[in-house]
Amino acid sequence: MPPATKPFWEEAYRADSRPFGPPSLEILELLDRLPRRARVLDLGCGDGRNAIPLARAGHRVTAVDRSRCALAALRRAAVRAGSSVEDEEPLVIEIVEAELSTICPLDDYDLVIAHGVLHLLPPRDRDALVERMKKHTRPGGWNVIAAFTNRIPPPPDIAPLCQGLLEEEDLLLRYGDWEIDSFRSYTLEDRHPGGIIHTHPINKLVARRPAPAL
Ligand SMILES: C[S@@+](CC[C@H](N)C(=O)[O-])C[C@H]1O[C@@H](n2cnc3c(N)ncnc32)[C@H](O)[C@@H]1O
Repeated sequence: MPPATKPFWEEAYRADSRPFGPPSLEILELLDRLPRRARVLDLGCGDGRNAIPLARAGHRVTAVDRSRCALAALRRAAVRAGSSVEDEEPLVIEIVEAELSTICPLDDYDLVIAHGVLHLLPPRDRDALVERMKKHTRPGGWNVIAAFTNRIPPPPDIAPLCQGLLEEEDLLLRYGDWEIDSFRSYTLEDRHPGGIIHTHPINKLVARRPAPAL
């Protein structure tokens, strides 16, 4: 069941004010490393700031969020973004309204993203989702995760939402059987629309599922 506290990003999605800014650097860096027309799953996609550049690069993106405001903002942004670089056709993104605690992907993907969302799930659901992300990644495919940790208490306005803060470096343990492409632990001062300033301790992981030896 969605939490009672209404997060600031809902209003920002409605206003198309891009609460989380431009695409993430690590996603842009992967654009050319993915296979052609890669299958991508963006979990908790928000307004599509990562889904859209991936789709523009010709990848086949499924974008999932439970927020109708987010998905409506994504639809508008996809129209604004125009066509795919690949074939000059309008962007095609599969948009799915779903709850991540229970979602079970039917397919396997070259890239699965959970950016800014794992810490919003109850710990058991969060952990089960990470296992499903790994399971539904093709050999040689990537997982990209950015999540808040418990190193600093969360800002009061979103504290009730942050049920699943990670332990520092916990992601490295969970991906101990994958190749770690990059891992960063850092503190972000995030300036959101409406003058909201948050300080977040973040762990960011780019990990690759080993491909079987030939
Ligand atoms: C902090 S925003 C990050 C959005 C996007 N990934 C980005 O990096 O810009 C978290 C997003 O996850 C979605 N979300 C949170 N909990 C969810 C859940 N249990 N199921 C589906 N979506 C969820 C929210 O609606 C919101 O759009």
